[in-house]
Amino acid sequence: MSQFSPDFQSELADLMRWRRDVRRFRTDPVDEAVQMRCLDAFCMAPSVGLSEPWRIVDVASDAARGAALANFEAANSDALAGYEGERAQVYGTLKLSGMRDAPVQLAIFCDDDTPKGAGLGAATMPEMRRYSVVGAITHYWLAARAQGLGVGWVSILDPARLARDLDVPQGWDLVAYLCVGWPQADSLTPELETAGWETREAPRAPIRR
Ligand SMILES: Cc1cc2nc3c(=O)[nH]c(=O)nc-3n(C[C@H](O)[C@H](O)[C@H](O)COP(=O)(O)O)c2cc1C
Repeated sequence: MSQFSPDFQSELADLMRWRRDVRRFRTDPVDEAVQMRCLDAFCMAPSVGLSEPWRIVDVASDAARGAALANFEAANSDALAGYEGERAQVYGTLKLSGMRDAPVQLAIFCDDDTPKGAGLGAATMPEMRRYSVVGAITHYWLAARAQGLGVGWVSILDPARLARDLDVPQGWDLVAYLCVGWPQADSLTPELETAGWETREAPRAPIRR
């Protein structure tokens, strides 16, 4: 495959335009085969030194989900306490996770101790392993959206507490908690923009040096 058609290019642009952070899910399940097709996107992602440092935990049990939700609720109320006045009032109205409803929940870690890749490219900037995980999550996000699924990234969490509660190996650092499922609605507008928290910028030309 050396070239993609103009129709595909246009659909890819649509996919990116219609990708949203989703926090409101229908509760019907996601077929295992659909889930696996989306997860394949991780293996196709770029990574520093081909280290492929992403580690994925399917947060499936009631106990694990309960611990994650309690973690989010504590972190979210701490976050609310950090705002005052109108910001605090708006923050209080935001829905910042779909953890109560999402049929699929994944905790994505970075294995900083992986020998894979033999440290290539990470000696000067070890954080490149984490950036590789972020890139892979974006791949997954788009692959899921292409299947009609919504993904919501939750970062309002105590990462060490979640790592303990999920009993993951030492050296795994939390990068994302993803809520995945069929969205209640599609939108071209980020939910934070609709809620009056922040607006999306128009594209800016790069600075030239
Ligand atoms: C690294 C990262 C962390 C995020 N954490 C949260 C979060 O904790 N809760 C939430 O509701 N949205 C979270 N988001 C989603 C952003 O709010 C969202 O991407 C942004 O408002 C733009 O909306 P869009 O993704 O629908 O375009 C996160 C997104 C990223 C990339």
